[in-house]
Amino acid sequence: MHVRTWQEAYAHVFPEEGLRAQSLGERAAFWSGWLQRRPSAAAVFVAEADREIVGFVSVGTSREDEREGELYAIYLRSSAWGSGAGPQLMSQALEALRAGGFSEATLWVLADNPRARRFYEREGWRLDGARRTEEFLGVEVEEVRYRIALEPPAQGRHP
Ligand SMILES: CC(C)(COP(=O)(O)OP(=O)(O)OC[C@H]1O[C@@H](n2cnc3c(N)ncnc32)[C@H](O)[C@@H]1OP(=O)(O)O)[C@@H](O)C(=O)NCCC(=O)NCCS
Repeated sequence: MHVRTWQEAYAHVFPEEGLRAQSLGERAAFWSGWLQRRPSAAAVFVAEADREIVGFVSVGTSREDEREGELYAIYLRSSAWGSGAGPQLMSQALEALRAGGFSEATLWVLADNPRARRFYEREGWRLDGARRTEEFLGVEVEEVRYRIALEPPAQGRHP
């Protein structure tokens, strides 16, 4: 799913060859290691349509500041864009971050990813001014950071 969604999302950013050559084995090894290790406060959710997985979201402790949460990745197959699965994954992600005790979370996105940025802004995320240059698949890309304040989880009050 991760490899396929990269191919669909980033055709305008990375060369087709590089996207095609991504290793399924390496990605699978990363994910099975991550899911077995279950780092504290980490959560992964998948979205299904017609009993097939069409996307996922992954959250946990920020890689930059352990007092904050981070949305590491949210990816949907293009067939599921605009289907409502994106907002559902996002609400699960925010709920998991709140449940992890975080009052703020960040995410990094390619500056040149207008659809995802529009989506994040609609979901309440705001640019916090941080930028960085990263290299993926041999291409230097600009990333921008978004941030969101998280309300504490509901206390499970009874009516
Ligand atoms: C990011 C993602 C999960 C969002 O889910 P989605 O189903 O596409 O989200 P929605 O359709 O609800 O919202 C997308 C918004 O972008 C708008 N949009 C659609 N195409 C767009 C485009 N080419 N440029 C700018 N905005 C666009 C939509 O109209 C919508 O805005 P609106 O609610 O104001 O109408 C999904 O697009 C995705 O998986 N993309 C590829 C992977 C990716 O980029 N992940 C983020 C990595 S950091």
